[in-house]
Amino acid sequence: MSKYALEAVGFVGLGARLGTLSEDLTEDHPARRLQTSVKDIFDLAIRIEARPKFMKHLPTAPYRKILAACDTQWEISSMYIEQARNTIKNRGHEIPEEDKSIIEKLLAIDEKVAVMMANEMLLAGIDTVSFVTVGFLYHLATNPQAQDRVREEVRSTGTSRRYLKACLKESLRIWPVIPANLRRTTREHVVGGYLLPKGVEVIAPNEFLSKQEKYYPRPLEFIPERWLADKSDPLYYGNAHPMVTLPFGFGVCSCIGRRIAELEIEILTSAIVDNFVVSWHGPPIKVKTTIMNLFQKPYNFKFESVK
Ligand code: HEM
Repeated sequence: MSKYALEAVGFVGLGARLGTLSEDLTEDHPARRLQTSVKDIFDLAIRIEARPKFMKHLPTAPYRKILAACDTQWEISSMYIEQARNTIKNRGHEIPEEDKSIIEKLLAIDEKVAVMMANEMLLAGIDTVSFVTVGFLYHLATNPQAQDRVREEVRSTGTSRRYLKACLKESLRIWPVIPANLRRTTREHVVGGYLLPKGVEVIAPNEFLSKQEKYYPRPLEFIPERWLADKSDPLYYGNAHPMVTLPFGFGVCSCIGRRIAELEIEILTSAIVDNFVVSWHGPPIKVKTTIMNLFQKPYNFKFESVK
């Protein structure tokens, strides 16, 4: 799944195929090294963040490893960005605006921003998409009626994908990849009678809040219909406070890849459900929460061709 996510973000962001989906991807292939370095960065970040910060004076093994992973991620993403830049420069003719990659559009505005954005996309757009896609497929596999309804929708001649989108929203409510949103206050605030001074770190535990009965009835159940119900229905999602469920964050720091991610996941899931009946054979999947959520393997999916 993370190979698909990397290939897709490379194509949309840089306008290039990275070759991640190739069957004989070796460990030293740049795409593979990029994928591993991103995984290491996220795995190690919590160990670095959650422990006393004396690493600068006494560099521990995880600290050295995360620095090496950041260097590899920067080196390989810079190489891909350079390749994309050369392709654009050597093309020698204009192409329609809608066919341009994100980096091509950004390079025309600001070179520094273009490079930073492309680099961040190749960091933030891999494990996030793969986690959410696995979670979404799991929910469809364990809720066959919802899966049948999605199949009916993707096979219909209509263009609406309302039910598919509602299923994705519901899956993100239950398993957002980032369990909590973090901010540092830039001024004093009073929230619920508590004074938050300037310059402190604040954690909004959105996953925890999204699983509270007072915001969502039957909060642990996968009920996509709550995103489609009208206001008179007790399930109506709008009864929850709008800041409770924020799987892509909020405000100026919110996820820049939201639309790309949603499209990637909707396209892949539609194709899978159109061709296969997906089921789950094994104990419930387990989530490990660190700086982001991760599923514990094995993945007990079964894919059978749709008759
Ligand atoms: C379903 C998949 C994804 C989820 C759930 C997700 C979620 C998030 C969240 C919660 C944040 C922090 C927002 C905040 O603090 O308010 C974030 C930031 C970010 N995301 Fe995503 N993301 C996903 C996919 C992607 C993809 C595909 C890309 C790139 C194409 C991307 C690029 C970024 C970047 C660059 C940031 C940092 C923004 C900043 O700090 O200004 N994300 N994402």
